[in-house]
Amino acid sequence: MKIIMLAINNLHAQIEDGVEILKGINLQINPGEVHAIMGPNGAGKSTLSSVIAGKEDYEVTEGEILFRGENIVEDAPEERAHKGVFMSFQYPVEIPGVSVTNFIKAALNETRKANGLEDMPAKEMLALIRENSEKLGIKRDFLSRSLNEGFSGGEKKRNEIFQMMMLNPKLAILDETDSGLDIDALRIVADGVNSFRNENNAVLLITHYQRLLDYIQPDFVHVLAGGKIIKTGDKNLALELEERGYDWLLN
Ligand SMILES: Nc1ncnc2c1ncn2[C@@H]1O[C@H](COP(=O)(O)OP(=O)(O)OP(=O)(O)O)[C@@H](O)[C@H]1O
Ligand SMILES: [Mg+2]
Repeated sequence: MKIIMLAINNLHAQIEDGVEILKGINLQINPGEVHAIMGPNGAGKSTLSSVIAGKEDYEVTEGEILFRGENIVEDAPEERAHKGVFMSFQYPVEIPGVSVTNFIKAALNETRKANGLEDMPAKEMLALIRENSEKLGIKRDFLSRSLNEGFSGGEKKRNEIFQMMMLNPKLAILDETDSGLDIDALRIVADGVNSFRNENNAVLLITHYQRLLDYIQPDFVHVLAGGKIIKTGDKNLALELEERGYDWLLN
C-alpha cells in the first residue's frame, strides 16, 4: 500500500494573541502529486505552509498534520526538515562569509547525520552540485558568493530551487509570495519543480499566478479563503479563477 505523503485533518492554528488564522483545513497529498493552493491575499496560504514546516509563530489548537503517517505537529522545524519536509524561505538569512556551496553542503550533511548517514563523500557532493547547478543554469561564481548577500529576487529564487534539488525532500512546499517574480523567475521555479518531481515525492505550490500552472501541471488546485479550503478542482479551476476572480466563491 502506498503511504499518504501528507494528510491534514481539521487543522486549526492561531497566532500568539489568540487570533485564529487556519479554521479547519483538510488536505491530502499522495506521492507523485503536485497540489497548487491559490486564494485571496490574507487567506492563510503562507500561514498554512509555515504551520506545516513548524514555524513557531503559530500554535496548532486542533487537528493533525500527518507526514507519511506520523503526526508532526509537535516536531521542531529542523526535525520536520530532517524527515523530508522542505519549505522555500526556510533559509532566507544572509550569511556573510558562508558561500552558497558551503551552506548547502552543511545543510545536506546535517540532514544525513540526523538520518544516521555519514557525510556525503566530497566527490559525490561535487558531482551533485554540478548536476543541479547545470540544470538550473547556475554559474560557478554564483556558487561561491555569500549566501543571499545582495542577491536579486531571481537569484534568491534560483538558490531556493537549488537548495530544494540538493536536499531532495519528500515534500517541497513552495510559497511564491513574491509578486516581483518576473518571467525568468517563473521559469526557474517551473523548470526546477518539473525536474524535481517524481513518483516518490510531492509538491505543494502556493501561487497567485495561473501562468505558473501552465508550466507546472498541478494534479489539484485548491482555493483557500478565510482560513479554509473552499474549493478543489483540477488545473481548469485556476483558469476559471483567472477569468472570474474569487468573488463567485465567497459569500
Ligand atoms: N505572525 C503573524 N502575526 C500577525 N498576523 C499574522 C501573522 N501571520 C499571519 N497573520 C495574519 O493572518 C492572515 C493570513 O496571512 P497569510 O500570510 O497566511 O495570508 P496569505 O494567504 O499568504 O496572503 P498573500 O496572498 O497576501 O500572501 C493575515 O490577515 C495576516 O495578517
Ligand atoms: Mg502569503
